[in-house]
Parts: sequence; structure tokens; C-alpha cells
Amino acid sequence: MGNVAVIGYGVVGSGTVELFMKNRESISKKVGMDCDIKYILDLRDFPDSPFADRMTKSFDDILNDDEIEVVAEVVGGTTFAYDYTKRLLEKGKSVVTSNKALVAAKGAELLKIAKEHQCNYLFEASVGGGIPIIRPLNKCLAGNEILQISGILNGTTNFILTKMIKEQMSFEDALKMAQQLGYAEADPTADVEGEDACRKICILGSLAYGKHIYPEMVHCSGITRITLDDVEYAANAGYVIKLIGSVRKLEDGRLNAIVCPRLVAGSNLLASVDDVYNAISVTGDGVGDVLFYGQGAGKLPTASAVVGDIIDCLKHHHKVLALSWEDSSADDKFVVNYKETDVSMYVRIKAEDAEALKAAISEMFGKLMYIERANRPDNEIAFITPNMKESDIDANLAILSHSAEIASKIRVY
Ligand code: HSE
Repeated sequence: MGNVAVIGYGVVGSGTVELFMKNRESISKKVGMDCDIKYILDLRDFPDSPFADRMTKSFDDILNDDEIEVVAEVVGGTTFAYDYTKRLLEKGKSVVTSNKALVAAKGAELLKIAKEHQCNYLFEASVGGGIPIIRPLNKCLAGNEILQISGILNGTTNFILTKMIKEQMSFEDALKMAQQLGYAEADPTADVEGEDACRKICILGSLAYGKHIYPEMVHCSGITRITLDDVEYAANAGYVIKLIGSVRKLEDGRLNAIVCPRLVAGSNLLASVDDVYNAISVTGDGVGDVLFYGQGAGKLPTASAVVGDIIDCLKHHHKVLALSWEDSSADDKFVVNYKETDVSMYVRIKAEDAEALKAAISEMFGKLMYIERANRPDNEIAFITPNMKESDIDANLAILSHSAEIASKIRVY
């Protein structure tokens, strides 16, 4: 009998139980033995749940039950989840999770503990919701040197930006809708400020390059300052605005990792990834470009990845699946300062006589592109700089800020 426990009965936890129980027969066939969920841990009461008989409030019920082989930690956060995961792995119980905050903060350590105790720590659901990306990166693409990973890694922000772009909906209304649909984190700040996407690019980069990239090493900015004016200027120049996470290897072996909104050209495949969908582009030196696409958030898409990991653990009881990366806490220099890399920037400025500044701006940046929009106010201009070192762009904008307000600054993809 393959016995499973689920910790956390929120959106992902209830989805995991629902999907597992719906497909229990076929899951049992795939594993090769009868499988069931024995416990669901949550501090709240669910008297009307069809699974009320499996509910517990005691973590010890799970920890001390030798029949439990696999635990799905879908409680989130880095406090209880960290403590529970560590203790379960130390007891030789495999843990699967959608908890990107924990994997991004403690992945190297927890993977090491799992290996030492002949069990597994799997986290397919932590990146891209239902999109298979961890396993393909770790296995199918393992023969490649990974040159770059980049993409749309947060469903909530992609949903918000899509509503802003296609329906001119305000940021606040679109966020409310995303929360109602169960896409957002408990505290949506992590979504809209880019922290959630940052954790995901850290996990992908750590896996691809074998060294833990901690979120503190990655420059991260979100979408809260994007306005409908920026959306309109971007559209007139042939772009859409997307929150993009990326990591790539530089020639000297160090990594460039960053999360920020970007202007993505309409012709790029990522530009047509809308709503809650995520897309992750991986470039390998053998395979070239590969694109992974699917629902990046939501109850059942995320549960799909959690249940897939549960099955893998049940099938490989006491067999460690090769998945690990080294700690890097002693070396904070392998991720370069993003200001030192070349980028092209969309800039919107406001000044009393904005037109009069054009000559000075052109002199600063050389060849640049001005963008128009219908009913553009006289005190506003928008332009896209040529590709140049970001610190040089900032130096120019610092000079410009003496005579204008820098209202927006968005990198071009
Ligand atoms: N809040 C996350 C998102 C959930 O919107 O992508 C999936 O990780």
C-alpha cells in the first residue's frame, strides 16, 4: 500500500486531494500497488468535506506513522513548512511541494538531507504550475550546456497585464479578479512585486547551473508602477509588457539573473502568452530553443504537478532520484551586477516643455526611437534607447532628471 499525507488544505492542497482521489485507480496502476491519502493536515475544520475522516491537526500523526512514504507539503511559507520538511526527510519520508519560497531559500540544504536519508525532495509544482519544467531541465536537457532560461513565470501578473493590455482594466481591478480565481499568493505582494517569479528563476537557475542562486542575489522589480499609458506607448511601438524572469551564463562563466517587466516584441512567442498562462524558454547548446507553455497557477494545474511528484516518489521508494545543486552561500559573486550588462530601455518622461528636451536626449543616447500615442500630453515624451550598459543609461537619466521627471523606465526584451 502506498500511503500519502497532505499538509495544507488550501487551494493547492484541496486540488491535490481532489485530483488524487479522482484518479486513484489509474494512479495505483501506474505505481504498481494500491495507493491512498491517509492524512490531510490543516488547523481548520472541514466537517462537510468528503475526506473529513482523514483530517488531522497533528503533524506527529504523519511524522510517526511508518506507513506514510510520501508527504505533499502545500502549506507554503518558510517557517512551519521548513521545519516539517526537514523532520520528514530526516525520517526517510519523501516530500513533494509547490512551495517555491522554501525551495528557493533552502533547496540545497533540503536536497542534501533527502539524499542522506535515501528519500526524495521533489518540487515540479514550484515553477510554472502545471507545466513540466523541472524534470525536463534535469533529465531530458541534461546533455546540454544551458545558455539561457527566460520566460513568464507568474500567472497572477500575466493575468493582470493581459487585462490591462486587452481590456484597459485598471491594475487594482485585475488583481482582485486574479485573487478571486485563486491564482495569487496569500499575500499578493509577492506576485506583483516580482518576488514569486524571482524564486522561480532562482530554482531553474540553480538546477541548470548546479549552484544555489538565492533570491537576494537577483535584482527583482514588479509591475505595480506600470500604467495604462506605458501599455499604450508599448503597443504603438509594437510591443507588449510582460514580467520576465531570466538567467543566462556569461562568457566568463558567471550568471546574469534578473526579474523585471519588459517590452516584448509582438513577433516574439512570449508576447502571445496571455492570462494565467506561463511560458518558459530554455536554450541549450545542443537542442537550441525549447518552449514550455501551460497554466502557471490555479488549483488543478498545480495539483497535476504535485500528484505527478507523489507518483514518482511512490514508484521510487528509498531510491534517490538524481536532483541536486551545491550550496553557494560562500560565493555571492557568481551572479553579476545587472547594471553592468547591456540593455535597451523604454523611458517615459514628463517636463514642462518636453519637446525642447529632445535634442539633449538624442545627444545623450545617440540613435533612439521616439514613440507617439493618441492625445499625448505636451508635457510627456517616450522613447527607447539603443542597447548600452545599464549604468550608462542611468547616468544619462540622472542628468535628465534635473530638467524632467523620469515617469517610467522599462527594459526591452
Ligand atoms: N501566485 C503564483 C502565480 C502561483 O500567480 O503564478 C503559482 O506559483
